Amino acid sequence: MYAILKKDMEDFRSLCQHRRSIRTYQDREVEPEKIHYMLQCALMAPSSKRTNPWEFVVVRDQQTLRRMEACRTYGSGMFRTAQAAIVVALDPELTDTWQADGAIAAEHLLLAAEEQGLGACWCQVLNRPAAPQREKTADAQREKTAVCDRDGKPCGAEELIRELCGIPETLRVLCVISLGYKDEERKDYDLDKLKYEKVHQERIEN
Ligand SMILES: Cc1cc2nc3c(=O)[nH]c(=O)nc-3n(C[C@H](O)[C@H](O)[C@H](O)COP(=O)(O)O)c2cc1C
Repeated sequence: MYAILKKDMEDFRSLCQHRRSIRTYQDREVEPEKIHYMLQCALMAPSSKRTNPWEFVVVRDQQTLRRMEACRTYGSGMFRTAQAAIVVALDPELTDTWQADGAIAAEHLLLAAEEQGLGACWCQVLNRPAAPQREKTADAQREKTAVCDRDGKPCGAEELIRELCGIPETLRVLCVISLGYKDEERKDYDLDKLKYEKVHQERIEN
């Protein structure tokens, strides 16, 4: 029993070591069964008082995926080649821990994707401005003065994703997890180089 447990723990650590953010994907379809597997993992994520405040939107339409890149100025390049995506939206009325609940479910998606041999990346949507009209916005001011191209009205990344995926106003959009077969190599985490100084015993300050 202990041997089995020990092996599983080692496997989980290896999975954590291998999982890196992958932002470039092959032009190859992601099997629906793999996405189904990932969603099963997300639906088993813990949530405060078991409120399950999440809603997941699976996006496979290539046009919608490409349009998602416009949700941010920087940090949304993964949608240039993403073959699928899962939007993580939450109902803030159900629990005040909705952001934490969403983040845990999203991490389940990321780890399950790695286990399925897929690359994935978190694209932050909540509290992020949308891509500005590039020619009108000075580099240094981009994130601050961003306005959406749509009708010239101010618009956050959340509104753009909401519109693309038909997400009602009652839900908040935390992030979109982009997916695809990896087309870039990332180094595994090195156990010897982890930031062990972040770990404290009993107290941080005396
Ligand atoms: C809350 C959160 C928000 C993130 N937002 C973005 C994002 O908008 N765009 C992006 O390319 N990566 C994003 N990432 C991925 C991080 O940049 C990445 O996890 C970090 O650099 C560590 O690299 P690794 O995932 O390869 O270990 C986000 C990750 C988290 C946890």
